[in-house]
Amino acid sequence: MQTVLVTGGAGYIGVAIAWRLAQHNFRVLLLDKAPLVYPIPGVKKFYQVDLLTQGQALDKIFTEQKISAVFHCAALTSVAESVVEPEKYYANNVTATLHLLEAMGKSGVKNFIFSSSAAVYAPQSIKKIVETSPLAPVSPYGKSKLFVEQILPDFEYCYGIKSFCLRYFNVAGAIFAPDFCHGEEHEPETHLIPLVCRKILRREPLEIFGFELASKDGSPVRDFVHVEDVANANLYALNFLQQHKTSLTCNVSSGRSTSVLQVVTAVEKLVKQNAIIKQNLPRPGDVVSLVGSNYLAKKKLQWQPEKSTLKIILQDSLRWVLKKY
Ligand code: UFG
Repeated sequence: MQTVLVTGGAGYIGVAIAWRLAQHNFRVLLLDKAPLVYPIPGVKKFYQVDLLTQGQALDKIFTEQKISAVFHCAALTSVAESVVEPEKYYANNVTATLHLLEAMGKSGVKNFIFSSSAAVYAPQSIKKIVETSPLAPVSPYGKSKLFVEQILPDFEYCYGIKSFCLRYFNVAGAIFAPDFCHGEEHEPETHLIPLVCRKILRREPLEIFGFELASKDGSPVRDFVHVEDVANANLYALNFLQQHKTSLTCNVSSGRSTSVLQVVTAVEKLVKQNAIIKQNLPRPGDVVSLVGSNYLAKKKLQWQPEKSTLKIILQDSLRWVLKKY
């Protein structure tokens, strides 16, 4: 049985990855600076450790455990917040990752699966972003992810760490398995889909950030990918690294373009209740459109965005919101 470490293991994406890995008979160790909110079936070991400040605790984990791969999800993830507090993002997303890579290098762990982001790309109007599209992040968040991607080859050269960078587009949805339910619970919540669900259900005003943009209906356009598909991509990325022993970067996207207003209309239909819309200016760091090609992930990982339709994502998100609130 292989032992793997998932950082950010108490977060929305980390928990989903840990659950999927445990289902596939990995011995999963979780690490997060925040406490684990609910248990994950098959996962027994949780370390509450901050990668930024607790280097000794981190080294101890790598000394005590024979870890074959690290899934690195620990990060701050708000584009808008990163614009007003960049230092927090560079510390938590870049410096903390350096600590992790250093600990991996020292203890000989060779496989690194990195939760990167579509925020690394330059804003563009072409239909679907491919992995070779220009890289020029608008926000400190996007830059912090790109910096990590760019230093990984140095750690491969020096320590032999092979890496797989997964550039997630907009991750959404929830998991409903017989033994496990899991969805998004950020506080404060800033993500579109959980906010649309909550605000329509509570009959509260919903802000639309950008309504006269150069897009199909004037609102921002995104590519929503189901969290369960994201978890699968991580599992397949490790298989790829272990089989091919070569580093790679892939988009993790549905390949579908959906506007903010399309999300609102679809949720309105599902709950049979109209939204109270408040038009607002775009948030700092927002781009008009972010839609990715998933050709490479399909080809290299035999990955499929099985659950990444707007219908499934919204049904699952709504079910989760109704269960929690
Ligand atoms: N939006 C609204 N109203 C809201 C919330 C969001 O109009 O109440 C808009 C945003 O301005 C944006 C779009 O909906 O245009 C999507 O916003 P999200 O907050 O859901 O997601 P972002 O696109 O800002 O960012 C997300 C992740 C990032 C990741 C990025 C990659 O939070 O970590 O997707 O595509 F980098």
